[in-house]
Amino acid sequence: MTQKRQVEEFLLDSENAVTHTLIGALDAMVGLLEARDPYTAGHSRNVSAIALTIANEMKMPKAQIEGLRIAAMIHDVGKIQVPMDILNKPGRLTANEFELIKQHPQTAYDAIKEIPFPWDVPKIVLSHHEKWDGTGYPNGLKGEQIPLEAQILSVADVLDAVCAHRPYRAQLGADKAFQIIEEGRGSSFSPTVVAAALRARERIVKQLAG
Ligand SMILES: [Fe+2]
Ligand SMILES: [Fe+2]
Repeated sequence: MTQKRQVEEFLLDSENAVTHTLIGALDAMVGLLEARDPYTAGHSRNVSAIALTIANEMKMPKAQIEGLRIAAMIHDVGKIQVPMDILNKPGRLTANEFELIKQHPQTAYDAIKEIPFPWDVPKIVLSHHEKWDGTGYPNGLKGEQIPLEAQILSVADVLDAVCAHRPYRAQLGADKAFQIIEEGRGSSFSPTVVAAALRARERIVKQLAG
């Protein structure tokens, strides 16, 4: 092995080690956060797994997928600022309560925006409730203005949210979840991402069940 190659391998190894440490630390932090709320326990991990399956189906480059994985893990950390009784309120939210919940992408963005990630994780997290037709929040981004990672994240988010048990809604199951993303194709969700999710449906259903 040449010296240059040895140096390259060393750098690659330490890069992997740092990425692993970062992911481990984030996973622990999110685990603590979700522990206060049994209804969303595991949500970030599930969303991350589903998002990765969709990204792989779309043949997203490995390096880009790493950024998506991290963004998916922390996408809802901004909910720490939303009172628990609003987060788990059975029945309809008032307009004010909904406005409070809608702040969670910005809260997360503000908290992580100074971290020098090698990917634009803050922008991806900020954009996970944007909709393809521009009716999402917080910035009303439209179509390709929404980072691709966030387009994937929003589909994975809805798939897990619909499947998971919620206090205000019985388990609707994977059929319902896929029906919702199919109906939202081109309005709420990117048509390309929905198509990839449908192709990967069997794998995703297994992830949702596990
Ligand atoms: Fe969210
Ligand atoms: Fe979420």
